[in-house]
Amino acid sequence: MPPALHGYLVAHGSPPDDILADLAAETAALGDAARMQIPAEQGALLTILTAALAPSRAIEIGTFTGYSSLCMARGLPPGGHLLCLDVNDEWTSVARRYWERAGVSDRVELRLGPAAEALAALPEEPTFDLAFIDADKQSYPAYFELLLPRMNTNGLIIVDNVLQSGRVLDEQEDSPNVVAVRGFNAALAADARVQVVFLPVADGLTIARKLP
Ligand SMILES: C[S@@+](CC[C@H](N)C(=O)[O-])C[C@H]1O[C@@H](n2cnc3c(N)ncnc32)[C@H](O)[C@@H]1O
Repeated sequence: MPPALHGYLVAHGSPPDDILADLAAETAALGDAARMQIPAEQGALLTILTAALAPSRAIEIGTFTGYSSLCMARGLPPGGHLLCLDVNDEWTSVARRYWERAGVSDRVELRLGPAAEALAALPEEPTFDLAFIDADKQSYPAYFELLLPRMNTNGLIIVDNVLQSGRVLDEQEDSPNVVAVRGFNAALAADARVQVVFLPVADGLTIARKLP
C-alpha cells in the first residue's frame, strides 16, 4: 500500500493507548527483531474481533513481546482465557510485564516451548473460539491441522503474514518461508472444512471460520 494511504488509514482508526505505545517503543529498542511485532491497526482489529466473538478460550501461537496477546486479552469477556505459546523466555518476559501493567495477567497463560508440542499435548476436543497464528512460518500447516480439531464450530483461526511482503506472488521467490506460506494459502483456499477470507491488513491476514 502507498505510504500516504497507509498513513491515512492508520490516522482514521483508534490509536493505541499509552500501554501499547510504551510496549511498541520498548520493542522497537530491540532493533531488527521489532519487525515481528504486529502494527497498531492489526492490534485494534484483534481487539475488535475478540470482543465481538467473546471467546471463553482463545489461543495465540507466537507471542514475542506481547503486543497481539495484549490486544486479544483486552477483548476477552469476563472469565475468558488466552493461552500463549512461544519458545523465547526473554521476549515473553517483556510480554508478562505488560500483561501485569494492563491488568490482564489473570486471564493470560504462557507456555514456553515448541508450539507444535504444546498443541499436540492439548486434549483433541473443541475448546477454542479464537486462535491467532504468528510464529515460525514453515510450521503454519502443522499449527493449522493441530488447531482445527481443537476449535469450536464457527471458531476463527486468524493467520498472520500470509502476503510475505507480496513475495507470495513472485514465482522466482523460493525462500523456505515464502514457499511454505504460498503452499499454506493455496491449501487453505481449497479446504472444505473452513470458510476463508484473505485480508490486505498489514502483511496479510487470513481468517478461517470452522464450518459445522
Ligand atoms: C512474529 S513473532 C510474534 C509477534 C507477536 N504476535 C506480536 O504481536 O508481537 C514470532 C514468535 O514466534 C516464536 N516462535 C518461533 N518458533 C516457535 C516455535 N516453534 N514454537 C513457539 N513459538 C515460536 C518466536 O519466539 C517469536 O516470539
